[in-house]
Amino acid sequence: MIKNRLNDLSSKDWIKFQKSWFVLNPAPRQKDVLVHPAKFPEKLVEEFIKFFTKSGGVVLDPMAGTGSTLLACIASGRVGIGIELSEKYAKVAKRRIDEAPWPDAGAKSGERTKSELSPLLLEGDARELERFDLPEIDYCITSPPYWDMLNVKGAKTQRDRAKAGLDVSYSQDERDFGNIEDYGKFLDEIVSVFAKVHDVLKERAYLTIIVKNIKKKGKIYPLAWDLGKRLGEIFALKDEKIWCQDDQRLAPFGMGSAWVSNTFHHYCLNFRKE
Ligand SMILES: C[S@@+](CC[C@H](N)C(=O)[O-])C[C@H]1O[C@@H](n2cnc3c(N)ncnc32)[C@H](O)[C@@H]1O
Repeated sequence: MIKNRLNDLSSKDWIKFQKSWFVLNPAPRQKDVLVHPAKFPEKLVEEFIKFFTKSGGVVLDPMAGTGSTLLACIASGRVGIGIELSEKYAKVAKRRIDEAPWPDAGAKSGERTKSELSPLLLEGDARELERFDLPEIDYCITSPPYWDMLNVKGAKTQRDRAKAGLDVSYSQDERDFGNIEDYGKFLDEIVSVFAKVHDVLKERAYLTIIVKNIKKKGKIYPLAWDLGKRLGEIFALKDEKIWCQDDQRLAPFGMGSAWVSNTFHHYCLNFRKE
């Protein structure tokens, strides 16, 4: 029998997670989180948390948005810590935490009590990670703003959201990574946050970043690959998992003249502190 030092999964569940891609079409979002322009599904983050930690482990999301990671921590018996810049989304996250159903704590989390496992949502700038006095972290998973793409006018989804009175960008705050116009500066600042995450992670703990390569005004900015390269100098870069969506409407970009993909996949980039 192989000793499992990483998680509490059976060999069967472990091997299932080892496939390098998965298809997940997020369920329609509930009203309380619809206001946020780009959240990731709790089911997705829960599977990563269950692979990269054991019950009771401490999980950090430094750009927590509506708190999906923290809800996944409640469901899986881990201790979630989130940092979020926007007061508005932090409020949504706190309300969701208050209303979340708790699983049977005894069975799922090694006898830890609800109060020990209660998530913590901190409001502020992830650049100042060291100011939050965080404990040692067993795993970090997050999804940063995809550069300033939400500020690019003209996309149909953006028009539809504006019409419905929903947010089309995260905030007007100049500390918001989604408001940095220069790609190089954006990359540098995101990398500097993960360098600070490296300081609080336990030795041999993992970091997962969910991100996409970006297409802006006909030019490709390979954000996922750039992060792989830059963060591979701080962490050990491990294999990615590719998240595919196959429920999106195809558009005839470039038809008859050029190759332009309908990009329906995200990279879940995995790094390890070694
Ligand atoms: C892609 S969203 C994360 C969504 C989240 N995973 C969820 O499921 O709701 C990125 C988040 O980063 C936040 N953010 C932007 N700049 C930040 C900063 N400097 N510090 C902390 N959070 C920031 C945004 O407000 C936004 O909620």
